[in-house]
Amino acid sequence: MSDTSLARTGVGIGVHLTARVGNRRIDGKISLMGQESSAELLAAGAAVHIKSRDRVRDLGEVYTQPREVDAMLDLIPDAFTDIDTRFLEPAAGNGNFLVAILERKINRIDESVHGGTPSWFEFALLRCLASIYGVDISAENVREARERMTAMVDAAQVFGGHGVSPHFTRAVATILETNLVEGDSLNAADQIVCVEYTPVPHESFTRSPSELQAPAMDLFYEPPAPLPTVHYSELGA
Ligand SMILES: C[S@@+](CC[C@H](N)C(=O)[O-])C[C@H]1O[C@@H](n2cnc3c(N)ncnc32)[C@H](O)[C@@H]1O
Repeated sequence: MSDTSLARTGVGIGVHLTARVGNRRIDGKISLMGQESSAELLAAGAAVHIKSRDRVRDLGEVYTQPREVDAMLDLIPDAFTDIDTRFLEPAAGNGNFLVAILERKINRIDESVHGGTPSWFEFALLRCLASIYGVDISAENVREARERMTAMVDAAQVFGGHGVSPHFTRAVATILETNLVEGDSLNAADQIVCVEYTPVPHESFTRSPSELQAPAMDLFYEPPAPLPTVHYSELGA
């Protein structure tokens, strides 16, 4: 689905990405560790402002453009100092905010903070991804947003020099399946269950499923049981 290649840019090391998202081809570039910033990848997915008049009428679907997304995220710089800070987009569309948040998190990955093992970069990338949540009522939007998030972490992984291994691909898919979901966040938030991933030592995650909104008072209500703690490479195994 995505064809990535490493490249050195004039001002730093970046990843040039050629990916196919839906039926669109993306030629983009991302950079890491704050060396350079490019909105091309984000713009590729966000180039469409509206998909159809019917969708604007039925879903209120008008996408936010990259410049506006960036301006809004610039208002909360402190939110990006920690790669594990959690974000929720309850009407995520095809992911314009989600990929921008992911890019900012990836740019904060730093070996002196997150390193220490041969697989530190892979785990850090998954931490960035696992703390981003999105809901949309349109299955098509959710699929596109997942594809865009996958393309971004895959490109970053190639930059990290690891290639995209099957266990990484499985972990990414598992996280996106649980945390970027189809649902009605306005009228049925109590039926939307996401998994709260918390990084713990030995490159593992604890996993607590929880509803987007606590269900109405019910004497017999039992919160979803936690899932076993797993090493990241076992996510989706
Ligand atoms: C104005 S668009 C914004 C999309 C995205 N946040 C952006 O800024 O590009 C609104 C989105 O909300 C979704 N939506 C509408 N009603 C919803 C609901 N009840 N629950 C979840 N998503 C909903 C639509 O499918 C659409 O993608």
